[in-house]
Amino acid sequence: MKNIVILISGRGSNMEAIVEACAREQWPARVAAVVSNKADAAGLRYAADRGIATAVLDHKNFASREDFDAELATVVDGFAPDAVVLAGFMRILTEGFVRYFEGRMLNVHPSLLPAFTGLHTHQRAIDAGCKVAGATVHFVTPALDHGPIVAQAVVPVLPGDTAEALSARVLVQEHLMYPQAVRWLVEGRLALDAQGRVTQTAGAPQVHWGA
Ligand code: GAR
Repeated sequence: MKNIVILISGRGSNMEAIVEACAREQWPARVAAVVSNKADAAGLRYAADRGIATAVLDHKNFASREDFDAELATVVDGFAPDAVVLAGFMRILTEGFVRYFEGRMLNVHPSLLPAFTGLHTHQRAIDAGCKVAGATVHFVTPALDHGPIVAQAVVPVLPGDTAEALSARVLVQEHLMYPQAVRWLVEGRLALDAQGRVTQTAGAPQVHWGA
């Protein structure tokens, strides 16, 4: 049985989708813990109610990013993770932390990378006149929002869209795409080539088309 540790900062809807898919589809894995840098992250309650271990590590209690990440690595490592899943974890991670978990750490980012790294992705896509937008699941590397792409979800940008409406449309696809990608990771179905390109070894589609 593989261990999944999920890191959140807030709502935790992607974490919920992963917990539910893991149970429903009987993955050879369990969500061993949910860790947050915010004590009031709504997702912590959901996890605790399901008997999943939770931990809070408030970054404001640490003098430096390095100190926080060192303690975070210790906490996460305590759950013996085979997969570390960033699900709305709104912290920039140090190179040391990323290297320690490299190859077993995924993130979901709400844009079609490499476009729109960083924040306010949906508004920026609307402002740029993009006709499609989406989300990307990628392996985490030290370059922010730039790791090898595991899967992407594509949705249309509709006339009159607000960032909220577009975000909600993308989130529906995130909830389908991210659990599947985490499952691929724990089942050993992801292969990374020398150029940093990821293929699903059984040939499953790595694109989700949303309406
Ligand atoms: C998701 O839309 C995710 O793509 C985004 O935060 C949201 C978290 O929602 N992640 C980032 O912006 C990371 N840079 P959730 O807490 O309900 O899963």
